[in-house]
Amino acid sequence: MLNTFFDNARQSTDFSFGVCRTDRTKHRLAEEGNPFVRKVLSPDEYTAYEMLRFQKRQVEWLSGRIAAKLAVAKQYYMLGRKFSWADISVHNDARHAPFVPAFPEWNLSISHSQEFAVAVLSRRPIGVDLEKIESRPRQLADYFCCGDEKNVLAELEQNEVLWNQRMTWFWTRKEAVAKFLKLGGAIGFHQINTIADRPTIGDAFVNPIQLLSEFCGDYAVTIALSSE
Ligand SMILES: CC(C)(COP(=O)(O)OP(=O)(O)OC[C@H]1O[C@@H](n2cnc3c(N)ncnc32)[C@H](O)[C@@H]1OP(=O)(O)O)[C@@H](O)C(=O)NCCC(=O)NCCS
Repeated sequence: MLNTFFDNARQSTDFSFGVCRTDRTKHRLAEEGNPFVRKVLSPDEYTAYEMLRFQKRQVEWLSGRIAAKLAVAKQYYMLGRKFSWADISVHNDARHAPFVPAFPEWNLSISHSQEFAVAVLSRRPIGVDLEKIESRPRQLADYFCCGDEKNVLAELEQNEVLWNQRMTWFWTRKEAVAKFLKLGGAIGFHQINTIADRPTIGDAFVNPIQLLSEFCGDYAVTIALSSE
């Protein structure tokens, strides 16, 4: 389902994507251990991987790198270049936004949530966010949502399932905008209004962005694309 969402989204703008199942990464790690990690990661990445202390984080981080490299591999294929997993490095800048030094003018975005890691790569600014739909505390809306979003959620207050779906929907839209702008958590999420597919920050359209969101099974997913 995620693959179909990304394939359809590619009709709006040109980007490549990768999807990685975290349980497969976990399985390969258990079966093959470090040789698997060394096959997938560049030496720089391997050093970063070794510094991750918890297995859950190692699995999600590695899955994010695999998804990113699948997206890079598609570009290599289009360019007729030979792809090798460990020759490609994915780094994070000072604000932790990911990038591929081999494609300095390209934009990469990564998200992981429970069973999946996804990545998108484009010449134009891009952001992706995936979240599993789960029960969320009601205070989240107070902290993170703007007035318009709170109004929608207030209408759903009596229906926990719909409330959680909609909250997760808004969440992915806000995170995708934050990643598009390469700001991550350094943005005031309550200032981003994602009611419309052209989101605003405060009262302004900043870098015109188009949001594409969908529910895929138990997940909500959003891509923020450049709308110019
Ligand atoms: C880190 C953050 C960008 C996203 O966190 P998240 O949604 O919990 O996690 P995701 O798996 O979707 O995204 C993590 C990835 O975002 C990317 N990322 C981190 N900082 C980024 C930035 N400044 N710009 C773009 N991408 C960034 C990284 O690639 C990271 O993966 P990696 O560490 O494996 O490289 C940031 O928004 C954050 O701190 N969020 C906190 C969660 C929250 O309170 N959300 C409220 C939303 S309503």
